[in-house]
Order: sequence, then structure tokens, then C-alpha cells
Amino acid sequence: MEHIQHDVLAALSAAQTKAELDDIHNRYLSKKGIVNALMTQMKDLPPEEKPAFGAKVNALKKTLEAAYDEAVERVAQAEILNKLASESIDVTLPSTKPDVGTLHPLTIVQQAIERYFIGMGYLVKEGPEVERDFYNFERANIPQDHPARDMQDTFYINTEWLLRTHTTAIQTRMLEDYAGATPVKVICPGKVYRKDDDDATHSHQFTQMEGLVVGHNISMADLKGTLEGLAKAMFGESRVIRFRPSYFQFTEPSVEVDVSCHICNGKGCSTCKGTGWIEILGAGMVHPNVLSMAGFDAEKVSGFAFGLGVERVAMLKYGIDDIRHFYTNDLRFLSAFKRFE
Ligand code: DAH
Repeated sequence: MEHIQHDVLAALSAAQTKAELDDIHNRYLSKKGIVNALMTQMKDLPPEEKPAFGAKVNALKKTLEAAYDEAVERVAQAEILNKLASESIDVTLPSTKPDVGTLHPLTIVQQAIERYFIGMGYLVKEGPEVERDFYNFERANIPQDHPARDMQDTFYINTEWLLRTHTTAIQTRMLEDYAGATPVKVICPGKVYRKDDDDATHSHQFTQMEGLVVGHNISMADLKGTLEGLAKAMFGESRVIRFRPSYFQFTEPSVEVDVSCHICNGKGCSTCKGTGWIEILGAGMVHPNVLSMAGFDAEKVSGFAFGLGVERVAMLKYGIDDIRHFYTNDLRFLSAFKRFE
């Protein structure tokens, strides 16, 4: 028994794994193990020796079981420590950066324009892209069969419904909503559609921003000051603008607005085609017919309006040479605008 105790205690303290301990337990401490087998020898002993022998075997069993439990605990602890050591993470290793998206360049420009106008108390209003002929044309002073309708090649859905060709359709809806009440101060961003063949400067779908102000004593001077402020906000403090006479059915007088070139500062370069000026939008004083059709008294109130192409502003601002870049989802193009967000 002393040999057994000595061997088993030595084996238990040398064991490193649960498997080794299981093995020792099987051989010595299980039902069919060596210690139980000692008990069976008791029947061959004289009766007076049996109690002492039995007590010795029990003591041995107790000692070994206690040593076994201790060894199980020790091995379990060691295994946890091993695991912690082998699974530790080196937080100083460089990580793989997740790809984070960027705002679309058109969104960046649209938000910049919106910030400028919101700062002056304008509301941002939207309207439906599938629009009635009525708001897109009729209310914009472009009646049925008017030749001006040919100027904007329209995607018609049927004779009543179409894809709006300009955000002026939101302008006419706003005038109807305000129903003669002033002041009206809104900007209306949105997608518009025209039956154009796509190329570097044309797209069948693009983005406009309409502006509309109606109130008492609103004049061309207000329009000019407002747009010059916008030109400075978008293209730099030293920009100036000029008006050129033009024609739109929904404004009278109508103007085309040029900004002094932000690349050459007006001296003449390839961006402004040598003229020093870049055309950025159409504008004018809201036509009295447009006001009165929506319930305003055109004798008492006046207003200005403008319509700007968001792609055009973005192309000029960032030097983009092809409008199709905005719609083809090339991440190499889109991710370049992260720094402008
Ligand atoms: N609707 C015009 C277009 O799409 C742009 C425009 C010009 C809007 C003059 C206006 C305006 O509100 O006053 O070409």
C-alpha cells in the first residue's frame, strides 16, 4: 500500500493534462481499480487482521482521492492560463480599416446650397417626380400646344402625367399651397427628367434646385444680391455675377446668370472658354400670370425665381469633366469627395 501511495501521488503531481489524470483515476480509483481490488484481498485474512487492513485501505483511498481532486483543480487552472496565454490579442498590431461610405458629391453640393438659403430663412420643399402636366407646364404659363413644350423633351406617361422636366413644377405647387399668402421663401431641390441622349454634359435624369421668393416690393435687386451671395458661398468670396437677358415663359423679365470664373478669376481660361464668365442658372421675376393663376394679386405682390443645375455647380466646383461620373457608382470617383463632406 505504501508503494501504491507513493507511485500514485508521484504520478498525480507529475500529470499535466486531464487525460493523464483520467488514466490514473481509472487504474487506481475506479470501481475496478487497484485500490478496490485490495479490498477483495481482505477475505483471505484472519478475522483479527481484517479491521486494521480495512482501515488502512480506506485511509489510502481517502489520501489518493484528495490528491486526485487537488490535481484535477491544478490542471484545470493551468489549462485556463494556457488558453489565456495562447489566445491573447496583440492590440498593438495594425488593424484592417472598415470601408466607410461618403456623401455623394451631388448631396454635398445640394447641402451646401441648402445651408446658404436656410441661413436666410428659406424653407426646403420637395414635390413629386411623377407630376401632372398641369403643374409642370400649365401653371408655369406654358399652355397646351405651346411651342415651348418642345424645348423640354418630356417623358410622358399619358396625356395627364409625366416625369417633371424641371423643379419649376415644385414652384407652381408651392404658389398654390401658399394661396396668396406672403412671404414665400422656399428652395426646392429634386430630380428632373428629359428625353436627352446621355453624353458628357447631358443626362436624361439630373438634379435641379428651384428658388422662389414672393412678397411686397421684391425686385431684381433682391434676386441679384441673393444670387451673388450664393456664388460667393459656392465658388469663393471674390466671385461676382452678371445678368444677361433671356426668355422663360414663367418669368418676366428673364435672365441668364453668369459667375466670374473661379479658375482664372475672370481672365479667361479653358473652363470659362476664354470669356471669364460661366453660366450657372436661369432666373427672373415671377410672371404675373404665374402669380395670379395660383391666387396671388400680381398688382400687389411680386417675386423672383431661379432654377439651378446641381450637377453643373458640382462639375465646376470640383473640376469634373463628365456628368455620367455622378451616376455610374465608381467608388474610385465617389471616395474622392470624402474630404469635402
Ligand atoms: N425651369 C428652368 C429650366 O429648367 C430653369 C428656371 C429658369 C427656373 C428661370 C426658374 C426661373 O425658376 O425663374 O431650364
